[in-house]
Amino acid sequence: VSRRPFIAGNWKMHKTTGEARALASAIVAGLASEGIDVLVAPPYTALTTVADALRGSRVALGAQDVHWERQGAYTGAISVPMLKDAGCTHVIVGHSERRELFGETDEAVARKTRAAIDGGLVPIVCVGETLVEREQARTMEVVEREVERALRALSPAEASAIVLAYEPMWAIGTGCAATPEQAQEVHRAIRRFVARSHGDDVSSALRILYGGSVKPDNMRSLMAQPDVDGALVGGACLEAASFLGIVQASGAA
Ligand code: 13P
Repeated sequence: VSRRPFIAGNWKMHKTTGEARALASAIVAGLASEGIDVLVAPPYTALTTVADALRGSRVALGAQDVHWERQGAYTGAISVPMLKDAGCTHVIVGHSERRELFGETDEAVARKTRAAIDGGLVPIVCVGETLVEREQARTMEVVEREVERALRALSPAEASAIVLAYEPMWAIGTGCAATPEQAQEVHRAIRRFVARSHGDDVSSALRILYGGSVKPDNMRSLMAQPDVDGALVGGACLEAASFLGIVQASGAA
């Protein structure tokens, strides 16, 4: 099975609109590699600006979170129709920072995943263990639980249309990425788990991204792993040169 490489940049809480326009334009201008799906996920306030800068390019636009209701009295929240209106095709769901810092539960992640699919956005569903959980040899248990809860209510067709991201929390923003072997071990386990829950076809079509201190330097060896299909990049996506370096490295595996 050939799965198209997918490189997504999660800008987190960075970039004013002016900075966002400059970064998006530089990414569009510098993008060479064909055959790789590329996405940027700026903060909400920069979505329309970045959509404008990306117009006519093959860089896709995603948001970093979404609420499951379409509208209503949910102060501070943003809905799927609003994200589509802003030009998004994708949305990150269940990022560990949302889970850890904002108390997002597996149930909330499942509702957001469902809402995204129903509303026509591709969810990029994030899972991953803490350092303590890894040290207690509970990585697979935690990751499988998160995958199971997020995918439980999805039909096989729905499940094959999403993207998963494995982001071990100890590797996020630490400069200490998982080794290619560590990433592959978990990616393979996730793929086997999805094969049992949703079937072999879904499992082999499903793209699983790795996230956590991905840099141009380590992308190639991560990408060389059979079950690593791309990356969800944080810090290194905030400058065009390093993000484009990662895109390029992902194509040369
Ligand atoms: P870093 O690349 O900064 O480690 O962040 C990874 C991440 O959380 C992407 O969503």
